[in-house]
Amino acid sequence: MSRQPRPIRTRLSLLLAAAALALSPYANAQQDQHPHGHGHEMPSVAPRSTPADTRQVVAFPPELKRHELANMRDHLATLSAIQDHLARYDFDGAGELAEKRLGMSSFGLHGAHEVAPFMPKGMREMGTAMHRAASQFGIATQEAAIDRDLGRALTALNKITRSCVACHAAYRLE
Ligand code: HEC
Repeated sequence: MSRQPRPIRTRLSLLLAAAALALSPYANAQQDQHPHGHGHEMPSVAPRSTPADTRQVVAFPPELKRHELANMRDHLATLSAIQDHLARYDFDGAGELAEKRLGMSSFGLHGAHEVAPFMPKGMREMGTAMHRAASQFGIATQEAAIDRDLGRALTALNKITRSCVACHAAYRLE
């Protein structure tokens, strides 16, 4: 019966492991992802306290604001669709979507000429940077379609998402 103490030690180490897990940031991250959590919660990697909002407030007429936010939701839907194409190595599909819905040729589609006069110069430039990044992504996917280099396409996609992040960090609508 010299093996008797073993289960106790095992149980003890299991207990310690569980305690360590419960205290780790990983456990918090898991909880934050709970499907019934509040939708507006910060991403799990963000600090718990809300940092001061330093974004510049931009005033759009109400109708244009509604329109702009609808565009924004379309931008997000487009990114999602692009990722789906890339996951299937459909570089052409991803590139076409980016150009049509986010690229330089989407200007008319999103009424950029209507909203541009209400934007501060810096915001306009960030908008242009996003459209340009999307068009460059289109070119990168044409190259990736030849060598099937997913990394190349993802790097170009990241330039688009970084332009979303940059503008959101700097401006908000009234
Ligand atoms: C030129 C600036 C700019 C760029 C570039 C930009 N956004 Fe926005 N976006 C805004 C502003 C301003 C808001 C409103 C934020 C606020 O008032 O809190 C917004 C809001 C949103 C919203 C919320 C929409 C709603 O219904 O409330 C989504 C989603 C969004 N953007 C997605 C994106 C995505 C995805 C990209 C990149 C492909 C992107 N945006 C690029 C400025 C920008």
